[in-house]
Amino acid sequence: MTKKFNSLSPEKLDNEHIWHPYSAIGAGLPVFHVESAQGCRIKLKDGRELIDGMASWWSAIHGYRHPTLDAALKSQLDKMSHVMFGGLTHDPAIELSRRLLNLTADELDAVFFADSGSVAVEVAMKMAIQYWASKGHAKRQKFLTVRSGYHGDTFGAMSVCDPETGMHSLFEETLNKHFFAPKPETPFGAICPEEDIAELKRLLEDNIEEIAAVIIEPIVQGAGGMRFYSADYLNKLRALCDEHQILLIFDEIATGFGRTGKLFAYEHSDIVPDMLCLGKAITGGYMTLAATMTTQRVAKTIQGASPGVFMHGPTFMANPLACSAAVASLDLLITNNWHKKVKTIEANLKDHLQRFIQLESVADVRVLGAIGVVEMKQPVDMKDIQPRFVEAGIWVRPFGRLVYIMPPYIIEAEELKALIQGMYSVLKTI
Ligand SMILES: Cc1ncc(COP(=O)(O)O)c(C=O)c1O
Repeated sequence: MTKKFNSLSPEKLDNEHIWHPYSAIGAGLPVFHVESAQGCRIKLKDGRELIDGMASWWSAIHGYRHPTLDAALKSQLDKMSHVMFGGLTHDPAIELSRRLLNLTADELDAVFFADSGSVAVEVAMKMAIQYWASKGHAKRQKFLTVRSGYHGDTFGAMSVCDPETGMHSLFEETLNKHFFAPKPETPFGAICPEEDIAELKRLLEDNIEEIAAVIIEPIVQGAGGMRFYSADYLNKLRALCDEHQILLIFDEIATGFGRTGKLFAYEHSDIVPDMLCLGKAITGGYMTLAATMTTQRVAKTIQGASPGVFMHGPTFMANPLACSAAVASLDLLITNNWHKKVKTIEANLKDHLQRFIQLESVADVRVLGAIGVVEMKQPVDMKDIQPRFVEAGIWVRPFGRLVYIMPPYIIEAEELKALIQGMYSVLKTI
């Protein structure tokens, strides 16, 4: 055993030996050392305090160190932090399932717990393949999706991400090849003309014998471009899937639990998917947990043929600590009037983000629910802009041309104003 790493400062060890998301080891890009976080504030080790605009990538909807969530975890710790889910069950998993079943459409009445959003997507894809295998169509193993999507970083999930931003060429020999229709163009709130879905329809009809399911992020395409599109597109997509008896998977890992102004983004439309992937905000950002929900019809079909079971079962499935955080988070969401909070944030974002459009460097500004997006004309230089946001006392993490915020729902009007003012002070100098 070597002790040579003991002499490295935390900063040097972090920079030279630890990967951060989508990063290069030793690149020296700034990372900011967090001491603690509370409410809407992230406190850095050097004493600076930042107003959080990211909710830790859509997840910390109640802010940090919420007393109710802290208490739920402490109480669960006194019982057990983990126990295997194979052959055993427990209250946190049962109570979380009860809530998810109650909160979603009646048709979605079967739950599979996974460890992360990407795995929830893998699970949905495997369910769709097993569904068709059970019906005697083992060749139906392809997926149809739209460009500009993002579904996660594991191979199955990555294979249905946008081929360019998902860097499919790099993994060409390993990644499965699926069908990509153009991204939906009809804006949110508008009726979708047939042309917008015509290419998807053609791809579906031409390749019907190979396709197991359509997978899509409803209403908001997140990491693939922060784009909002028409709910009517989803109505038309459901009709197409019904006509051809194709399964429809909605990835609501980012949009779920109120973020778009509806509890689930599919509620903006008139339809329900056959599978729903949930994650991120499910535990209020406390623990990693995700879920794939489906219908009894899909579940029973899967188990109606060999091997008679759904073939997935991770070690940490339905981790009791994570499930108890999720139960507490969902109860908080409902009792704390999430709808009013998100509507207030939406109104404030609409009021205060509009002026950004006058900046020379800004191409577009859009708001939906508690999501505010400022699209720049050019990609931002992260090395330069990230420290400047921190200097301005805010935590905003752009990518490419997108500077966007989706704050915790508990953010106060004054904090949101300061967050937006901080963004403005930085972006006006670009
Ligand atoms: C829509 C969507 N699907 C899937 C994922 C992957 O989730 P995770 O990062 O928890 O694996 C994400 C993460 O950003 C997402 O936004």
